[in-house]
Amino acid sequence: MAKIVGGINVTHVPYIGRAIAGNLQQDAYWKPFFDGFPPVHDWLDKVKPDVAVVVYNDHGLNFFLDKMPTFSIGAAPQYNNADEGWGIPTVAPFKGDQDLSWHLIDRLIEAEFDLTTCQEMLVDHAFTLPLELLWPKRNAALRTIPICQNTVQFPLPSAKRCLAFGRAIGKAIESWDSDARVVVLGTGGLSHQLEGKRAGFINKKFDLEFMDKLVTDPDWVTQYSNEDLVELTGTQGIELLNWLTCRGALGDKVKTVHTNYHIPISNTAAGLMAMETLG
Ligand code: DHB
Ligand code: FE
Repeated sequence: MAKIVGGINVTHVPYIGRAIAGNLQQDAYWKPFFDGFPPVHDWLDKVKPDVAVVVYNDHGLNFFLDKMPTFSIGAAPQYNNADEGWGIPTVAPFKGDQDLSWHLIDRLIEAEFDLTTCQEMLVDHAFTLPLELLWPKRNAALRTIPICQNTVQFPLPSAKRCLAFGRAIGKAIESWDSDARVVVLGTGGLSHQLEGKRAGFINKKFDLEFMDKLVTDPDWVTQYSNEDLVELTGTQGIELLNWLTCRGALGDKVKTVHTNYHIPISNTAAGLMAMETLG
């Protein structure tokens, strides 16, 4: 059966694409952010995942406000990126794994998560940038599965629902008849608000507590409604639901491999957190 080696949660601010394209990793603005990654690269070299299941939110590239599935999954042989208007380079397609996609679809719908299946799916910065950050030299052999959650247009799935979805994803991966090693990613967050009176809002205290609780007690997050989470973390800080789903897939016990937290990148508190599954 397939093995989940661990999970990585990471921010996905589009501006990062400019830093990568301009080779600005060692500039004063970017260094504290990019310096978070080498320990995670070392861990990835050690655990050698074959597949990355990426939990993220689409921002209007594949789904727009007229059609917004709560949960959706790619089942394509490859996933193309396209210009979103952020001024960052469009990157080469990512390889899919249709066998795992359809296994996940079967198991998740059986588990009463009625997700939308996408046999074509464009992937936006929330999918591409984390992969570029984690595999800066592009691992051409890595297969990927995009899983989108709606964190954009209310009503959004609750923290409780996302954690349960993540747990179902974890069980489904582990029942896949394959010797593949799988890493789960959750992208977005942490606290940020891009518009309105609270534009620029960041809540370091909550973010750090959230990162701690994610390891020791992820159910802690479910005490909060989505309105609470928006109040606590900003309108786009709610992308932390993707982190929660990723954590759910990793089983009861995890150990922290490495974390980094840096304020700000653009308008966002940039978090990074790698966790290894135990048992
Ligand atoms: C920013 C953050 C995001 O999560 C996003 O999707 C777009 C922009 C930002 O901070 O600029
Ligand atoms: Fe975002």
